Amino acid sequence: MRKQAIGIFDSGYGGLTILKDIVERLPQYDYIYLGDNARAPYGNKSFDTVYEYTLQGVETLFNKGCELVLLACNTSSAKALRSIQQKDLQKWNSTKRVLGVIRPTTERLNTFTTTNKIGLFATTGTVRAQSYVIEGQKLFPEITLYQEDCPIWVPLIENNELANKGTDYFVQQHVNHLLAIDKDIDAIILACTHYPLLSSTIRKFLPPSIKLISQGILVATALESYLQRHSELEQLLSINQSVQYFTTGDAEIFNQRSTVFLKQTIRANSLHL
Ligand code: DGL
Repeated sequence: MRKQAIGIFDSGYGGLTILKDIVERLPQYDYIYLGDNARAPYGNKSFDTVYEYTLQGVETLFNKGCELVLLACNTSSAKALRSIQQKDLQKWNSTKRVLGVIRPTTERLNTFTTTNKIGLFATTGTVRAQSYVIEGQKLFPEITLYQEDCPIWVPLIENNELANKGTDYFVQQHVNHLLAIDKDIDAIILACTHYPLLSSTIRKFLPPSIKLISQGILVATALESYLQRHSELEQLLSINQSVQYFTTGDAEIFNQRSTVFLKQTIRANSLHL
């Protein structure tokens, strides 16, 4: 019975930051990672385009034998998850599931802050979709979320421009802008799965009292609890501790650059969506 993998989808490399924490927490399962590097970034693309690309990614992962697909991408989670869950999943058998990364983050908002003022860095697409603000308000109306979109950060990360003065400039610009909105912000969420790669640069420009929240652990913990609550799905998952990697871009480049995200060497295969 156990023959299905868990699919992890992102526009490019960012989902690897989530995959890493999931595999650490749930090493027993098999995972298939798909990065749509050829078409990244998603952050500046329209709702329809992100939906269409994400759906293609999800269908590809289903066809490769995934029972459960996690959108390890905030932009896809903000713009495509709901439509896929409500419209598209019906085309597949009833046990297939697609999850996102926004809910696991918003349901923990109250644990990040004592001032009830939280900042958030994300792509333009995620900020405009307002998913964090809407979800956050529903769960914790006492908390104010301030969003700052950082459109240039993903291209800098995808191109491995992590440690240079130009990157520092663009990071400091957005940090200062966000902090100027409210001096009581005491936590900042990295609401783009690429951004943990910039953590140490962001940290340079932040007062030490402000917490920086990455989503990997939050998503891994939420997935673990989801599988505990859905044993009918958990029992379909294969447990050979394997990870396969696919990219819509160049596999060699993916192998090289992913070492920055995973701190290990991998062998990806290329595919077209
Ligand atoms: N990593 C993605 C996110 O979490 C998207 C980055 C992009 O492709 O713009 O939003």
